[in-house]
Amino acid sequence: MSILVLGGAGYIGSHTVYELIDNGYNVVVADNMSTGHKEAVHSSAKLYIGDIRKEEFIENIFENESIDAVIHFAAFSVVSESMEEPLKYYNNNVYGTMVLLQSMEKHNVKNIVFSSTAAAYGEPQKVPISENDKTEPTNTYGQTKLSIEKMMKWQSLAKGLKFVALRYFNACGAHISANIGEDHSPETHLIPIILQVPNKKREFITIFGNDYNTPDGTCIRDYIHVTDLAKAHILAVKYLLNGGKSDIFNLGNGIGFSVKEVINAAEKVTGFEIPKVIGKRRLGDPAKLVASSQKAKDILGWKPEFKDIDSIIQTAWQWHKNHPNGY
Ligand code: UFG
Repeated sequence: MSILVLGGAGYIGSHTVYELIDNGYNVVVADNMSTGHKEAVHSSAKLYIGDIRKEEFIENIFENESIDAVIHFAAFSVVSESMEEPLKYYNNNVYGTMVLLQSMEKHNVKNIVFSSTAAAYGEPQKVPISENDKTEPTNTYGQTKLSIEKMMKWQSLAKGLKFVALRYFNACGAHISANIGEDHSPETHLIPIILQVPNKKREFITIFGNDYNTPDGTCIRDYIHVTDLAKAHILAVKYLLNGGKSDIFNLGNGIGFSVKEVINAAEKVTGFEIPKVIGKRRLGDPAKLVASSQKAKDILGWKPEFKDIDSIIQTAWQWHKNHPNGY
């Protein structure tokens, strides 16, 4: 069974490749290395370096490899940048996926698991958030992911494409081996930023607002371990190959932690005190985002294994401690 992983040198992609290989799949990775890392690609995967927006590049893969399903992570994902350069996001994320879907159609590859996001919802109507809740993204990044979901829907109705879109909440943690982990440049995510303090890369952490309508005033998020996300992709591939219908699933732990709680947990795990400064709210941050992942549990049989924030941060810390400068 051969799986093509687009963006397989990135954070969630590389962890999914590790899981696929551990589960006996033959893996082909394609990545343009704009944000990915060669070192993150498992040595048993076959790597093609190039851009999915280039028709010849993607065509060549489908012509040379016999692909049963595609897992698609290749996208830009920095929310703030997406607000400054919206067309850059439409071009890479939406246009790139369009070229991919055209090529899949041409080569009769029917199954795709797509990396979507909780940012598709925007400001939630209620928490926990369910898949049928209103989707009104408050940033271009979330909008491009939602547009891709719609594009896949229409392509599935017209041409029989089969897709699963997985809307992740806050991906975090690192592979248990500590060989791969999170390495973004610039880093914007809370946990790696916090861990830069005990790693002596930063002196303090700025909390973006402590006047939210939450128990301690700081934003609440649903932190889900990257290996649990990776496992969900494999279940989604199996679901599609077993005849499951196209669908959308949330992936989160269903438990919310505030920024302060995450910092406290990181202090406990690392044994370092982490100085904090209260800063201004970051534009577009909802107070509370927590997933209902009941649908993924019921239909895909997904069971996230990393439940508590300490054990998630522990894996992230092992990675960052061993790789203070990333890959
Ligand atoms: N935060 C701080 N200080 C920092 C960094 C983050 O206080 O230095 C806070 C944020 O304000 C937010 C929380 O920590 O309240 C988590 O922030 P992240 O940037 O780690 O994650 P987000 O919740 O903003 O974003 C994540 C994904 C996005 C996705 C979004 C969906 O990283 O890709 O969830 O809601 F779009």
